[in-house]
Amino acid sequence: MKTRITELLGIEYPVVQGAMARIADGGLAGAVSEAGGLGIIACGGARPEWIRDQVARARALTSKPIGMNVMLMDPRADEVAELVVELGVEVVTTGAGSPANYMKAWKEAGVKVVPVVASSALAARMERLGADAVVAEGTEAGGHIGELTTMALIPAVCEKVSIPVIGAGGIVDGRGMLAAFALGAEGVQCGTRFLTVEECGVHEAWKEKVLAAKDSDTIVTGRGTGHPVRGLKNKFARECRK
Ligand SMILES: Cc1cc2nc3c(=O)[nH]c(=O)nc-3n(C[C@H](O)[C@H](O)[C@H](O)COP(=O)(O)O)c2cc1C
Repeated sequence: MKTRITELLGIEYPVVQGAMARIADGGLAGAVSEAGGLGIIACGGARPEWIRDQVARARALTSKPIGMNVMLMDPRADEVAELVVELGVEVVTTGAGSPANYMKAWKEAGVKVVPVVASSALAARMERLGADAVVAEGTEAGGHIGELTTMALIPAVCEKVSIPVIGAGGIVDGRGMLAAFALGAEGVQCGTRFLTVEECGVHEAWKEKVLAAKDSDTIVTGRGTGHPVRGLKNKFARECRK
């Protein structure tokens, strides 16, 4: 399958495995890339030694492109941004803000820069900064979320920018991918779906809970802090929401 995303990222299928902090390691990313998608190593909260090891681990699994994700809220973001260049990954995705400070260095190094955005205004800003593509992530997503739904966000972003758009948020299968493409996306990024795969190192009990979850089984915590996060509804999450 060919889209501007497969061409840009040098992948076979327009499917990106979203970064998941403390979860998406080199084993998962390498397996996804080797299978023809794009695997992303999540660097949020990670030590530089761990990042180096995980990039080496992914490289041992595949010779195809891999990516790193820089969480811009991370106190070590500057250091991780330098590692992106030093380790020579092909793609960088960014979460939680604007990667303006790193754009020049990344572009000069030939890294494809793909910021995650939650509004069409931010998407347009990223395009002006020189981003190669954006991930338009709706509020259905697991992890940190924005307010707009995937259904509303993807067409709004596609109308605002001319760079290719990757849709994310609640996409787990071919139906969701088709819907995202109908709205103008040329690729999809999935996070939660990849939590459940064999190559993902989270506990089996978590995978089973995700697989058994119904539509109403997630909850958003942290709205009061300005950093809302969607996760599975359980006793701990309910306590956090109080
Ligand atoms: C447990 C978890 C952790 C996540 N951590 C990150 C992260 O560190 N950086 C980031 O940019 N996105 C992060 N995300 C978002 C994913 O990369 C992806 O965009 C999102 O999961 C897509 O929505 P979906 O979960 O409905 O597939 C995380 C998602 C989950 C579920």
